[in-house]
Formats: sequence, structure tokens, C-alpha cells
Amino acid sequence: MEALSPPRMLLSVFSIAVLLSTIPQSASAANSAHNTFLHCLVNHSEPSHPITSAIFTPHNASFSSVLEAYVRNLRFNTSTTRKPFLIITALHVSHIQASIICAQKYNLQMKIRSGGHDYEGVSYVAEVPFFILDMFNLRKIEVDIHTETAWVQAGATLGEVYYRIGEKSKIHGFPAGVCPTVGVGGHISGGGYGNMMRKYGLTVDNVVDAQMVDVEGRLLDRKSMGEDLFWAITGGGGSSFGVVLAYKIKLVRVPEVVTVFRVERTVEQNATDVVYNWQHVAPTIDNELFIRLILDVVNGTQNGKKTVRASFVALFLGDSKSLVSLLNEKFPQLGLKQSDCIETSWLRSVLFWTNINITTPVEVLLDRQPQSPVNYLKRKSDYVQKPISKKGFEGLWKKMIELEYTLFQFNPYGGRMAEIPSTATPFPHRAGNLWKVQYQANWNRAGKKVADHYINLTRVLHKYMTPFVSKNPREAFYNYKDLDLGINHNGKNSYAEGKVYGVEYFKDNFNRLVEIKTKVDPHNFFRNEQSIPTLPYRKS
Ligand SMILES: Cc1cc2nc3c(=O)[nH]c(=O)nc-3n(C[C@H](O)[C@H](O)[C@H](O)COP(=O)(O)OP(=O)(O)OC[C@H]3O[C@@H](n4cnc5c(N)ncnc54)[C@H](O)[C@@H]3O)c2cc1C
Ligand SMILES: *[C@@H]1O[C@H](CO)[C@@H](O)[C@H](O)[C@H]1NC(C)=O
Ligand SMILES: *[C@@H]1O[C@H](CO)[C@@H](O)[C@H](O)[C@H]1NC(C)=O
Ligand SMILES: *[C@@H]1O[C@H](CO)[C@@H](O)[C@H](O)[C@H]1NC(C)=O
Ligand SMILES: *[C@@H]1O[C@H](CO)[C@@H](O)[C@H](O)[C@H]1NC(C)=O
Ligand SMILES: *[C@@H]1O[C@H](CO)[C@@H](O)[C@H](O)[C@H]1NC(C)=O
Ligand SMILES: *[C@@H]1O[C@H](CO)[C@@H](O)[C@H](O)[C@H]1NC(C)=O
Ligand SMILES: *[C@@H]1O[C@H](CO)[C@@H](O)[C@H](O)[C@H]1NC(C)=O
Repeated sequence: MEALSPPRMLLSVFSIAVLLSTIPQSASAANSAHNTFLHCLVNHSEPSHPITSAIFTPHNASFSSVLEAYVRNLRFNTSTTRKPFLIITALHVSHIQASIICAQKYNLQMKIRSGGHDYEGVSYVAEVPFFILDMFNLRKIEVDIHTETAWVQAGATLGEVYYRIGEKSKIHGFPAGVCPTVGVGGHISGGGYGNMMRKYGLTVDNVVDAQMVDVEGRLLDRKSMGEDLFWAITGGGGSSFGVVLAYKIKLVRVPEVVTVFRVERTVEQNATDVVYNWQHVAPTIDNELFIRLILDVVNGTQNGKKTVRASFVALFLGDSKSLVSLLNEKFPQLGLKQSDCIETSWLRSVLFWTNINITTPVEVLLDRQPQSPVNYLKRKSDYVQKPISKKGFEGLWKKMIELEYTLFQFNPYGGRMAEIPSTATPFPHRAGNLWKVQYQANWNRAGKKVADHYINLTRVLHKYMTPFVSKNPREAFYNYKDLDLGINHNGKNSYAEGKVYGVEYFKDNFNRLVEIKTKVDPHNFFRNEQSIPTLPYRKS
């Protein structure tokens, strides 16, 4: 480290005095280690970008609100959830660099958070004492319509990205997730998909460059990090490799008018037949059309009897007339009518998909807090590669009603997804997959008993689905983080532990991720409950 110039030293001494004044006199050993860490942070930050205004200790009055601002699963908002000893709300790249350097120096666990949508809270919860490097202040978006690209910083939300694109062009969009509050940092580094997936592939299939700070504190771009590391952080999860500062994305063309619909059928209204046909049509029909299927349990028409409802939610990159004639030919069982269709702009279709009235001003996409209340939740995933028989579906309805299970989401693949090789990015679930299953349990009451009940239901249903889904390995989507697949304690069994979930998320790409990880972060600084492990030994 270069010698400090006198003015910088003065600033540092002053800043530390202010920070330390917020820590009680009866400082424990842990506290004093944290004080040394604070000193190190201040020492390593640039005087022109003081880090002190980015540091929140638990004694800062805003600490809880900063922590809770990006908690998107209330399971991890309880009084017994371990809290970080510090939150660094980086305002400048030097704050990221200082965090990485100092955390290694004092052997501290760092968690990186962008949008906080991790289903298992991995970005803001840990088993061991830890601090959060929070990226929400770094959220610049620069759209260049001329080159049809944009630089988007990790702390931006997808809604902000969509809004900024829409501000500049009515015929451009971006194929990322449907929930506008999801963060760029976790979403893109973990793969990312949305309702244009069949036309344009995954989010990472449309990423052309990145900026990342590595374990040495260097700010790298695609060229300086090299193709291996760039490959790893476009689907293998950023948090195993470094801190992603920004991605450069390639915009895609969308028509000025798109069509959306939501059509519902209960079992009494022939849902079984329609669902059975959906599985043959949705993954093979024109790439312009994405029809998500949502299954839930609702009250039937007969008093006190539950039934299963199938909701078909679609985005079509075209007008409603073409859509109705396409579906009447290829999917007559759905009985789609012109009156079921809504024509709108691509930007407003985002509102429709997230259950916001599409007449709402599009500025709602800039709202970083979700429109609907945050819930307690659990998610799991699966891949279906062979059609399910009608008998199979009938059995599933019975099971869902028996469990009063809340929700299933089926997302059709095929189209562009089946054309991209499974090694092109770490995301391996390409050709051969008909659709991805998401298991959803949502509840709104606190308490371990309630949580255990709902989590158990997802596990029971996941087990029930075994005969219908992929095996050897049973595949899962990394962005739908599920700690049931295995947890890494990052000790001497780290590789063996990592392989268990790693193969389900990444299949054969897991080995390449491990090799890259071993090369760029050999001491496993960037680690978490499901990070990519390093190789257990290295030949010298
Ligand atoms: C309501 C909701 C809707 C969703 N919809 C979709 C969808 O349509 N499509 C889809 O693909 N996924 C979807 N997801 C899943 C989502 O993509 C992942 O949870 C994603 O990881 C969230 O990113 P984040 O930045 O908000 O999350 P965070 O919780 O901040 O981070 C998630 C993971 O990424 C790491 N990370 C975050 N930022 C960085 C960074 N800058 N550098 C390195 N590592 C980082 C974290 O450490 C953590 O491990 C949804 C999730 C929710 C809660
Ligand atoms: C911070 O810098 C000061 C002045 O150079 C030095 O005395 C001190 O040891 C440094 N502290 C840490 C924790 O790096
Ligand atoms: C909390 O942190 C903010 C931002 O760094 C600072 O402005 C404020 O004075 C701090 N409050 C306390 C109580 O330390
Ligand atoms: C999280 O917990 C805190 C403390 O109990 C509470 O004040 C806050 O409202 C909770 N957040 C949400 C979104 O419920
Ligand atoms: C269900 O299918 C039957 C037989 O094909 C048909 O007569 C009936 O109209 C259908 N019901 C609905 C609601 O589509
Ligand atoms: C379903 O029926 C139960 C009683 O059988 C009732 O308590 C509940 O409110 C009903 N739900 C809806 C959405 O109508
Ligand atoms: C959407 O909002 C408009 C204007 O407030 C209202 O007329 C319309 O009924 C709403 N649509 C839905 C589906 O709620
Ligand atoms: C999980 O749920 C199933 C079905 O309701 C039940 O039979 C089982 O006992 C539950 N298991 C646990 C551990 O709660």
C-alpha cells in the first residue's frame, strides 16, 4: 500500500474517531477486531470518496432499516436471525476494493447483496459472524440505443433497467426476470430468465461485458479478466468469484405492440385436458410466444370442495389477431378469444406480468420496494424432460388438494433455449428440457412452526414429483436457490459438499467452474452456503 499523504492521515484519524465513538466503551475482543477492520477500511479508501459515510455499525440508528430495506423473504427477518456486525453501503468502487482487501486481512466473512431477492437469504444471512457489502447505491444505467447496448450497475433493479430502455426506445427491451425489484447483481450472475427466453435465450445469453473486482482488489473488465472468468460470472453466480460492479447488456428488438393474456381453467372446466396439451404446445410453438402455467388450489363450485386451477399467462411478441389465429390452430383446447387478449407496449407488459394494473404510470417500475407485501417463502425447482400423462396430472391434482398446496409455476423452454449449447454459459439446462417447475410456498404468519409446515409441503411435493422430472442428476435452477440441495461449510470437505448441489445446478459445467474458482480465488475468500468450491488439492 502506498504511503498516506498527511491530509489523508488527518481525514482517517478524524473518521475513525467518529466511527469509534459509536461503539460502546466495553468493547469485547470481537469488537476490537471489528475496530481494526474499520481502521483498515478507512486506511484503504480514497480521501475523495470517504468510506465512513458508507459504514453502518449496529449502533447506528439506521442500521436496522438499512438491513431490512432489501430483505425479500421474511423467514430471515426474525429476532433470532443472525445480524451482520457491519454493513458497507458502497458508494464507490474503492469501497468494494477496501472491503475485499480488509476482510481477507482479518479473515472475515463477507456477504454481497444487490437486490436481496435470494430465496435463502444467502446475501444477508450467515452461520458465522459476517458483514454485508451492500451494492444498492451503485445503480447507474447507461443506455446507448445507437449500439443497442447498456451498462447496468449491480445495484440497479430490473424495473429500472426496463424503464431506462423504454425511455429511449419503444422497440427495444431486455430478456430478464419478470419481477421488477430483482437486483441486476444476483440475477445476471446467476443466469436469469424471463418471458422472452424462448425468443432470445437467458439474460446471460445477452451479456457482452462486465466489470468485476477480484480477490486482489483489481477492477477487471471482460478483456482483463479473460474468457474463463467472464464465462463463470455469466451464470455460475458472482459471489464465488468476486464482486460484480456492472454488466454490459445487449438490448433486443421488440414490436411496438405486444399481446398478453391470462386465461384460467379449473379441473371442472377441463384443466387436465388443457394442461396436457399445453405441455406439447408451449415448448414447441413459435418463439414469439411464452405461455407460463400456474397451478394452485382454490375453492370449487361445490360447497367446501377444493379444486385445482390452471392459469395460463402469456406474452406474445406480436398483435392479438395473429395470436388468436395461431392458438386456434395449435392450441384449440385453450379456447383463446380476442377478448382475452390485451395489446400494449412491451414496457407495460412488464406491469401485467407482475400483477400491476397496466394503466398505472410506468414510473412504478422505478419503485425499489415491491408493490405487494413481502412474504415468508420457500422455493424449489425441477426440470421436466418427458411429457406427463393425463393420469399423471390427475394424481398430481389429488396430491395438491390433499396438501392444500399453494402454488406451482411451469415455465416452458424450447425455442432459442434449445439452440444454445449447454456449455455456452454455466447454465446447463438447454435442449431436451420441456419446462422448468418452480415450487412455491408463500405464507404471511411469523413463527417456526408455520414455516416448518410450509417448507415441509414443498419437500413432500418435490418428493412426489420424482418420477416425472430429470434424474442423474436431478437438475435445479441456481437462481432458485434451495439449501435443501446441500450446504457448504467451507471446511476441509468443501469440494465434496459443493459437488452435491453443484452438479444439480450446473451438471458438467460444475468442473469448469471449480477449475476457474481454484485459479482466481485459491483461498476461497468468496464463499457462502452454496458457493463454488476450490479443488481439494493442487499439484505443484
Ligand atoms: C419475487 C422474485 C421474483 C423472481 N423472478 C425471477 C425471474 O423471473 N427470473 C429469474 O431468473 N429469477 C427470478 N428470481 C430469482 C432471482 O433472479 C435471484 O434470487 C437473484 O439471485 C436475485 O438477485 P438479487 O441481486 O436481487 O439478489 P441478492 O440476494 O442480492 O443476491 C443473490 C446472490 O447473488 C450474489 N450477488 C449479489 N450481487 C452480487 C454482486 N454484485 N457480485 C457478486 N455476487 C453478487 C449474492 O451474494 C447472493 O449469493 C426471483 C426472485 C424473487 C424473490
Ligand atoms: C492505518 O494506517 C495507520 C497510519 O498509516 C497505521 O498506523 C495503522 O496501523 C493502519 N491500521 C490498519 C488497521 O491498517
Ligand atoms: C449513521 O450513518 C450515517 C451514514 O453514515 C450517518 O450520517 C449518521 O450520522 C450515522 N448515525 C449514527 C447514529 O451514528
Ligand atoms: C422486519 O422485522 C422488523 C423487526 O421486527 C420489523 O420492524 C419489520 O417491519 C419487518 N419487516 C417486514 C417487511 O415485515
Ligand atoms: C370440456 O370438454 C367437453 C368435452 O370435450 C366439452 O363439451 C365442454 O364444453 C368443455 N368445457 C369447457 C369449460 O371448456
Ligand atoms: C374457500 O372456502 C373456505 C371455507 O370452505 C373459506 O373460508 C374461504 O374464504 C374460501 N376462499 C375463497 C378465496 O373464497
Ligand atoms: C385498472 O385501472 C383502471 C383505471 O383506474 C380501471 O378502470 C380498471 O378497471 C383497472 N383494471 C383492473 C384489471 O383492475
Ligand atoms: C410433512 O407433511 C406430510 C404431509 O402433510 C406429513 O405426513 C409429514 O408428517 C410432515 N413431516 C414433517 C417432518 O412435518
